[in-house]
Amino acid sequence: MLEVLQPTEEPGWVLAHEGYSVLTESAVESRFALGNGFLGMRASRSTGRGPTWASWLSYIRWASWPRCYVAGLFDMPNTEPPVPALVPVADWSRVRLILDGEPLVAREGVMLYGMRRLDMRRGVLLSEWTHRTPAGITATGHELRLLSLADRAVGLQLQRIVLDRDGIEVRLEASFGLAGLGMEPVRLENDLGAWRTEGTGKVVAMAGAASLCLDDASINPERPFPLRWIFRWPSKAGQVAEFSRLVAVARADRSAEDPAPRATAALERSTSAGWRAILERHEVAWDVNWSASGIRIEGDDDLQRALRFAVYHLTSAANPDDDRVSIGARGLTGDAYFGHVFWDTETYLLPFYTAVWPDAARSLLMYRYHTLSGARAKAELCGYRGALYPWESADTGEETTPETVLGPDGKPIEILTGKMEHHISADVAYAVWQYWRATGDDEFFRDAGAEILLETARFWASRAVAEADGRRHIRKVIGPDEYHENVDDNAFTNVMARWNIACALRALDLVRQRWPEHASALQDRLALDDRELDDWRDAIARIVTGLDTATGLYEQFAGFHALRQLNVADYADHALPIDVVIGREQTQGSQVIKQADVVALIALLPEAFPEHGATINFRHYEPRCAHGSSLSAAMHARVAARLGDADMALRYMRETASLDLDPDPNSAGGIRIAGLGGLWQAAILGIAGLNLMGETLELDPKLPLSWRRLSFKVRWQGRSVGLSVAADVVEATLIDGDPMDITVAGLTRNLEARSSLRVDLPSEAFRGVAEVCA
Ligand code: BGC
Repeated sequence: MLEVLQPTEEPGWVLAHEGYSVLTESAVESRFALGNGFLGMRASRSTGRGPTWASWLSYIRWASWPRCYVAGLFDMPNTEPPVPALVPVADWSRVRLILDGEPLVAREGVMLYGMRRLDMRRGVLLSEWTHRTPAGITATGHELRLLSLADRAVGLQLQRIVLDRDGIEVRLEASFGLAGLGMEPVRLENDLGAWRTEGTGKVVAMAGAASLCLDDASINPERPFPLRWIFRWPSKAGQVAEFSRLVAVARADRSAEDPAPRATAALERSTSAGWRAILERHEVAWDVNWSASGIRIEGDDDLQRALRFAVYHLTSAANPDDDRVSIGARGLTGDAYFGHVFWDTETYLLPFYTAVWPDAARSLLMYRYHTLSGARAKAELCGYRGALYPWESADTGEETTPETVLGPDGKPIEILTGKMEHHISADVAYAVWQYWRATGDDEFFRDAGAEILLETARFWASRAVAEADGRRHIRKVIGPDEYHENVDDNAFTNVMARWNIACALRALDLVRQRWPEHASALQDRLALDDRELDDWRDAIARIVTGLDTATGLYEQFAGFHALRQLNVADYADHALPIDVVIGREQTQGSQVIKQADVVALIALLPEAFPEHGATINFRHYEPRCAHGSSLSAAMHARVAARLGDADMALRYMRETASLDLDPDPNSAGGIRIAGLGGLWQAAILGIAGLNLMGETLELDPKLPLSWRRLSFKVRWQGRSVGLSVAADVVEATLIDGDPMDITVAGLTRNLEARSSLRVDLPSEAFRGVAEVCA
């Protein structure tokens, strides 16, 4: 077993954390978390910890926050206000080692060595520890844990334990800790447990198997209780005990459905395959994913590592086989935001999946299709038509944003995002269109995507109201900059809304041309007539955008320019966010922005910024941004890269990378996955200049001087294309699929099957001349 417990040797693939500190532990547990889109597990140490339960804590902390999650397993806990949240499932990795009757506990005795490694290449968490107990016994352990990418129902734990003494009565207890916490047990058998959520009536079944070998001979466990195994043996110094445990999980969304047979079947196929086969298939699956999504940066080891980390978590978060779930703001790595899904998924994560893992992208978008009824209900409730997606979404598509939270002084603060942050509907529409453009997945477009586009457009047309000035306004919203609430005509919202409506009209034309019967059935079903379509055209023409055509500057929202100017740089050294430092009122009265707002619009809709508009707006808004959200720096990096400011792009990329890679306790509630998706975008959509929305696959690189080469693969309309960008040349290889056109730095060429194309890039000076001539 020892050989599989060793990390990948090739440098750059392994993150390591040595030792233990309560201050950083939660962040480490998030950062090294495992996931496969169905199951998630924090990287808590499995041996040597005491029990954990839910408890009121204020002046002491949990030493560890072991949590296992199942995507989509939401219920309403007894909180005030009540908010649906992911229910933690049994923590199946805990191992108690009891030596001569004394449990080995990390806090007692001396931890001589403790190392955790996240082997990103293999998708495994590796641990190594040596502990001397108060009785003077030295125990050494090695561990491997994984959540299978090849068979998402399955998790595996391997442990190798050696003691330095003869004759110790060793007892190893493997259990399912926290089992059923917050859920009612419906079945407990020897190798199987099933629990039901109280409110939503979902059922989760977990099946387990454990075995232990001493010098290659297996010993029988006692089974005093379901999902509990106790192994006993007298120790011999240096003797190797090898423990392995398998878990298999299934979820059912209705009480009437029994997930137990699926969990049992998954356990049976795993036990008959054996742990070596499970590990091997898992590693092969990671290999396949890395081969499609890996990025190579020559000349920047730090960002290389950060991008691997980003791709590791992005890969761990998605499940192409389950289109009833989406990705929460912390993936399945922590409790923050209760597992809720935000615009983060469509705006920050989807481009990655669309470009390298379209099956995962499709499932994520189908989740929005399946939750359309919730979005329709929300629109109706708020007095609008069409579909208004919830700002925070769980499993049904109902709005799940908490209406209040407690402020630092213990007083409730009203949260308005659930009522006012409406741009989410356009963000979903944008991701749908982008996915269809890049993949050519007509079936999705015809059967689901078009309906999302039409229903969101219908919402915007009802939301943008004609007023006495002859324009249509969208009042009382919150844009991406959540520091300013209840504003009118937020440029990001309005321009995205206009785009959404225009895109829906285009989509309808397309469906009419290509699938006329389908188009008329859809129009009938949605009761969409020509009068309404005329109204949409009117909305496009008359919606307020905030663009001053004389200066090229957008006003972030009506009245923004008149707010007090504040030198945001003066507050850069504060550990606390600026709105906490200067207070809510001052923040709202100042030109200080929480995160990319107009800047995000530059990234998403560059065509809305004619001539030098992008630069003008970026130079105006970038200094006003306080980056109070983990989403912000990455979007600034992407735009800075597009505008050719490579230094600034790299600075913002490093800032984003440090969010989860520095020992920053802020990741305690889970990794900030939108930031990681944003980092991928900064490299691929920013620096390489990949455009997923064009007629052809487009690339317009602006490589930083310090990077020698950037290489990656993308999927384009059913093909796989390898791309490699150096300062003066782009190489494109059509790895798989039919010949296609590719546009590099504005020139379109044909890419033949299984062949490569070299395109010399004009030098900056030459490019400038070319642009002037054009
Ligand atoms: C950001 C939102 C984001 C949410 C979840 C907030 O702090 O302002 O834009 O959707 O976090 O990540």
